[in-house]
Amino acid sequence: MDKKIKTAVVFGTRPEAIKMAPLVLELKKRPEFEPVVIVTAQHRQMLDQVLDLFEITPDFDLNLMKPNQNLWSLTSDILTETKKIFEEIKPDIVLMHGDTTTAFATALSAFYARIQIGHIEAGLRTFNKDYPFPEEINRVLADAVSDLHFAPTEGSVENLLNSGIKEGRLNGSMDNSYEEGRRIYKTGNTVIDALLYTVEKNTDLSYLGLRDDLKTILLTSHRRENFGQPLENICDAVLDIVEKNKDIEVVYPVHLNPNVRNTVFKKLDNIERVKLIDPLDYAPFCALMKKAHIILTDSGGVQEEAPSLGVPVLVLRDETERPEAVHSGCVKLVGTSREKITSTVNKLLSDEAFYNSMKMAVNPYGDGLASKRTADIILSRFS
Ligand code: UD1
Ligand code: UDP
Repeated sequence: MDKKIKTAVVFGTRPEAIKMAPLVLELKKRPEFEPVVIVTAQHRQMLDQVLDLFEITPDFDLNLMKPNQNLWSLTSDILTETKKIFEEIKPDIVLMHGDTTTAFATALSAFYARIQIGHIEAGLRTFNKDYPFPEEINRVLADAVSDLHFAPTEGSVENLLNSGIKEGRLNGSMDNSYEEGRRIYKTGNTVIDALLYTVEKNTDLSYLGLRDDLKTILLTSHRRENFGQPLENICDAVLDIVEKNKDIEVVYPVHLNPNVRNTVFKKLDNIERVKLIDPLDYAPFCALMKKAHIILTDSGGVQEEAPSLGVPVLVLRDETERPEAVHSGCVKLVGTSREKITSTVNKLLSDEAFYNSMKMAVNPYGDGLASKRTADIILSRFS
């Protein structure tokens, strides 16, 4: 092949960066591709943490993050700025990821520019327009304008087929053949590529000063629909849990969103055996997930990673677009009721059989080869 496939890879937040990084590294290895990395920097510090770890230097950095930014201005800034870059570099294909505002606005911008779009992590759904907000609609709209859908699981393939996006049906295995004309491909989730790359580094956590005599509960929470009372309930549950269980310590790397930080620091600062820390780099965060006895989270990515590490996860949401780990038993939805969170954690801490029934290493989201499959598919489409 004489001409390289000019592949614009666009991302902006921490989770997109983690999940796109292995794909960027894969494309860079292959002589058939000319990857162009464009970051919106919807997140700044939390994006840079990931770029440093994977040693990725963006070709274009839009540097868009503003303190306490809003969805309207962020969306219009992404549309305006990506237009200029797409016109300058004229990519053969634009790859975007998931359900953030960066993902949706980038897909729309590429659609307006009549460029082929590949949606990485396509097909996730709760089928509830308002939950998660605005991610459910971001991913529905991104899928609607995308040409190639890289779906992580059989369930996400089904969701896409049911929404009418189809030119063919895949046969279900991870090793789907890449038939001409198909637009939905099951690849596995690149998050597992990133996790396997990172977790083997076994990063030293001694600098966190965790106590050896205590079990660790790891907590993350940042979703918009949990701002206000739900997040206060989560914090109250933490207070109940540390009060009742003197042998545990809660570690909470607090997201940089001021809507999260204001509530969390007001409720949990200076509480014995509650450690509020800044967002961790991805390598120590993976090491902390592995060490944790229980994980409480409303994160999407953590729901996919923790099952591979065999750590029980309680999801602080009422619905999930990631049902696979729930079905396998190691993830439970507990919502944001103080009583429900507290009682489920207490049961995990006191009932060994219950704990063991959730402590299993399952890997429904991938096998570490999703980036390789994605690159193979794009190559086959362009050759
Ligand atoms: C965004 C995504 C959400 C994703 C989450 C991952 C949208 C609408 N939301 O939510 O889907 O789950 O990222 O974390 O796309 N901030 C910093 N530094 C950073 C990052 C954020 O200071 O590195 C602060 C800024 O004040 C920023 C605010 O957090 O304005 C909110 O960031 P934003 O990306 O709009 O929302 P998230 O809640 O992070
Ligand atoms: N993560 C991290 N440091 C932290 C918290 C999370 O590196 O302090 C990673 C986590 O392992 C996962 C990703 O960030 O890969 C999830 O990001 P987030 O929860 O912000 O977004 P979501 O997945 O909910 O969109």
